Amino acid sequence: MINMGFNMRYLDLKRRIRDVRMWAIQGIAEAGSGHPGASFSAAEIMGTLYFRTMKHDPSNPTWEDRDYFINSKAHSAPGFYSTLAVAGYFPPEEIRTLRKLGSRLQGHPVRYSEHQKHHSVPGVEYSGGSEGIGLSVGIGIALAKKLDREKAKMNKVYVLIGDGESNEGQIWEASMAAGKFKLDNLVAILDRNRIQQDGFTEDIMPLDPTKDKWAAFNWQVFEVDGHKVEQIVDALYKAARVHDKPVMIVANTIKGNGIRHMANNPQWHGKAPPKRQTEVLLEELESECLIAPSIIAGERENYEDKIRKVEREGVDMIHLDVMDGRFVPNTTFFADTIKKLRPSTSLPFDAHLMIEKPLEQIQEYIDARCDIITVHAEACTENEFKEIQERLINAGISPGIAINPGTHMPKWLHRSLHDLDVIIVMSVNPGFAGQKFMPEVLPKMMAVNKELMEHGFRGYIEADGGIDATTLHQAYDAGARIFVAGAAVYGGGDIHGSVIQLRHKAAVALEKRLLNHSTRLNVRSDWMKARKHILIPYANELGIEEELHAIK
Ligand code: DX5
Ligand code: ZN
Repeated sequence: MINMGFNMRYLDLKRRIRDVRMWAIQGIAEAGSGHPGASFSAAEIMGTLYFRTMKHDPSNPTWEDRDYFINSKAHSAPGFYSTLAVAGYFPPEEIRTLRKLGSRLQGHPVRYSEHQKHHSVPGVEYSGGSEGIGLSVGIGIALAKKLDREKAKMNKVYVLIGDGESNEGQIWEASMAAGKFKLDNLVAILDRNRIQQDGFTEDIMPLDPTKDKWAAFNWQVFEVDGHKVEQIVDALYKAARVHDKPVMIVANTIKGNGIRHMANNPQWHGKAPPKRQTEVLLEELESECLIAPSIIAGERENYEDKIRKVEREGVDMIHLDVMDGRFVPNTTFFADTIKKLRPSTSLPFDAHLMIEKPLEQIQEYIDARCDIITVHAEACTENEFKEIQERLINAGISPGIAINPGTHMPKWLHRSLHDLDVIIVMSVNPGFAGQKFMPEVLPKMMAVNKELMEHGFRGYIEADGGIDATTLHQAYDAGARIFVAGAAVYGGGDIHGSVIQLRHKAAVALEKRLLNHSTRLNVRSDWMKARKHILIPYANELGIEEELHAIK
């Protein structure tokens, strides 16, 4: 959590963006048409804006002091509508009327108008369609606000543009104007997914060097991984502090990201999946896995190096095991060390507090700017946990609770599930890295998963202890989606290979699950056909070589 502006409650933000993709795919499959590719490549960008950055009010879409969002790549409408719905502008169920006669959710969004409530969408500022125009509209709004001195600092204007759309000459005319008028209240974000309607952008109309182009037109340019919300939040935080220049954030994204056979595949620019596969697709979207290396494992070398090494491997977050020598028979580090490590990475910090009386010390870990803070159920009462949870949420931090192998999920936790983002089910007795995974916790993990789902839990189960290439799939099948890995990553000297292997095992577990689901729905061969190029590398491990070979 590098930015101090908006604390992102990381896991809650991830969950909302997951919901956006799930609603979008339901709408597209139900309509039998729509653009999954762009809806998914821009999901983190739009989600971070609406759920964590923009000043807006779903109950008052024309609020005068609101920030503006112009979606110039309007074919991403299913993703955009789903973002507005999850943000609260209208009930998400309405997404299922996408492109239907009489629905206000048509293929391209219609600007909201109080006079045309039934035909326009609350939250939509610009009727998109023919591309290349949205940036000019954004510049018009930003300039108007600038001319009205009062408003100059009040309203920010965000514009989402595409890289295919950047073939349009108007984009470059507009970019010159924004540079000339020093529109520092304007932030454009380029969804750089490198695919357009009929192929790869660099084959059709090369855009690179993209950053240099915008910088040459007097824009302040930042570049991010467009699927890492922490980097987008960070770039938006920096953008808010730029003066006398408009800002361009080049977000490197993957078209269709989230569904593996759609990812980076031009076929899925404007094509709908068969409706009968919807449930399997929803299961995939619900199953994103996160890898969190535990830095206390392996050599006692400096933690910053350890963090940098795994950051290079694209892990999702850093697991920080705080041990006080009382709650567990080992001592590691405390809030002061975390504070020192904070500036070394934008990766979210997943702090696992194995300490007595966590309520007394919680403020130090809030101030150390962790993104997720998990305390042990064995170390606090219901009321203490409630207070911890409230303080974490107010500070924009994801609250979590951990249970040791011998502990069952406390019944009182049902009353806190709504605002709980993660539950760690320990698969070793806490205290040390490098211990052996305890398979006897699996039935409990499954029972916890079932109980949580029955109570509407939308957060994550985290498996912690002895996770490696031989045990990850067991925890995955039991419901875990966040995997802590200490010795498996830092214990063997080949960090690169270890992270790849963990991701591979997670992918095999996912594909097996989706295959089973497709069989239950009687769409197995259909699914395997759509998924063939993804399944080939796992065919042996999944025991489907012959079957896959027969699929034409
Ligand atoms: C144990 C810690 C774990 C541990 C993980 O008490 O909570 O996070 O460091 O290390 P491995 O993966 O080696 O068990
Ligand atoms: Zn841990």
